[in-house]
Amino acid sequence: MAAHGSVDRSLVALLALMACLSCAAAGRAGGVARQRLELRRHLKRLNKTPVKSIKSPDGDIIDCVHVSHQPAFDHPFLKNHTIQTRPAYHPEGLFGGNKVVSQTKTPSMAQLWHQNGRCPEDTIPIRRTTREDVSRASSVKRYGRKKHRSLPNPMSVDPDLLNESGHQHAIAYVEGDKYYGAKATINVWQPKIQQSNEFSLSQIWILGGSFGADLNSIEAGWQVSPDLYGDNYTRLFTYWTSDAYQATGCYNLLCSGFIQINNEIAMGASISPISNYDGSQYDISILVWKDPKEGNWWMQFGSDYVLGYWPSFLFSYLADSATMIEWGGEVVNSEPDGEHTSTEMGSGRFPEEGFSKASYFRNIQIVDGSNNLRAPEGVGAFTEQSNCYDVQNGNSNAWGQYFYYGGPGRNSNCP
Ligand SMILES: *[C@@H]1O[C@H](CO)[C@@H](O)[C@H](O)[C@H]1NC(C)=O
Ligand SMILES: *[C@@H]1O[C@H](CO)[C@@H](O)[C@H](O)[C@H]1NC(C)=O
Ligand SMILES: *[C@@H]1O[C@H](CO)[C@@H](O)[C@H](O)[C@H]1NC(C)=O
Repeated sequence: MAAHGSVDRSLVALLALMACLSCAAAGRAGGVARQRLELRRHLKRLNKTPVKSIKSPDGDIIDCVHVSHQPAFDHPFLKNHTIQTRPAYHPEGLFGGNKVVSQTKTPSMAQLWHQNGRCPEDTIPIRRTTREDVSRASSVKRYGRKKHRSLPNPMSVDPDLLNESGHQHAIAYVEGDKYYGAKATINVWQPKIQQSNEFSLSQIWILGGSFGADLNSIEAGWQVSPDLYGDNYTRLFTYWTSDAYQATGCYNLLCSGFIQINNEIAMGASISPISNYDGSQYDISILVWKDPKEGNWWMQFGSDYVLGYWPSFLFSYLADSATMIEWGGEVVNSEPDGEHTSTEMGSGRFPEEGFSKASYFRNIQIVDGSNNLRAPEGVGAFTEQSNCYDVQNGNSNAWGQYFYYGGPGRNSNCP
């Protein structure tokens, strides 16, 4: 009897296990169907019906979407919005337009997709999001968004937090005043990324509030991010958040927020040409400023392209002004194999190597309360591990305030 009873018990256990397995399989199948539906809906939200589509040599599809059909207008607050066709004010001051004379060539920076066509008037170019793009993210909702706490905080009382998040920076910064914008000319490289969950970027941060859960940030620059784009091209990007990367904001036009007015430059599209080590140097200028009349934050690329604006209502602190500006590089160090990543920042060279070898930000400026571009005062420099990535400030007539930054990541001093 005892033996019989035990057989019964194991049979029951086995049946229960089988039921459980099939139930899990059914759950999985339901989950997969739900995910597919969610993915389809998300792609439909992001990819608006184009007037025309252009295939870029890098594999992107650029959709020319009517300016009033762009993703921004899915936002409930923007239902009756009248598009601003130009900023009411443009900041005045130093190094205006193309007056800077330097060793660099001033070729027309372009985007690769221009080789195969242009977008008509009253449309804006939008990089089409593919099924594969979204599938690389941990979830549909996370696609196009930064993970939390990827912000360099030189004032952090707990520097361990910086290391813990795996993000490494080499930046220059100013704080302690009210800022209404920032500008820089950044040379463009194609840093090597060791593995696809890492990235390397060079950007300006316009920050409002303290480094708490309600941090406001507007960001723009170039990046290489295999996870976001599926390749290693260097791309123009923007980012915004009003709650420290939690529920609000995204890269480029991957959520409602930024209103684009320009039909020539696509957010997230690749930049060309790229600087060569000890060879030709190519740089881009980025200006972000707050229109003192309407309060919107505008972005300009180069001296010719006013791309569009972030409406003031998206933000809390930045609805007034920024409290800190940062310029520089950031990489993710996922410490593959327990060693520091060999993902490069900037050109992958240390600042000491100087012009045409190291990466730089030159003519860094801030916009003050009178809407003037000025050289920033009291610029600080910050890096978590200078043996991996470093930064060096400088000052000259032609370059104003500048700095070289970057590095190779893993090396004998950065194991
Ligand atoms: C938009 O306009 C309509 C009609 O005038 C109005 O009912 C609605 O409240 C407005 N929505 C917003 C978000 O302002
Ligand atoms: C990107 O570069 C890495 C090496 O740096 C390489 O392993 C990977 O295959 C590249 N990805 C693509 C899509 O070319
Ligand atoms: C980050 O970690 C490295 C290695 O563990 C250490 O040398 C460095 O001091 C840390 N940096 C900060 C800012 O804590």
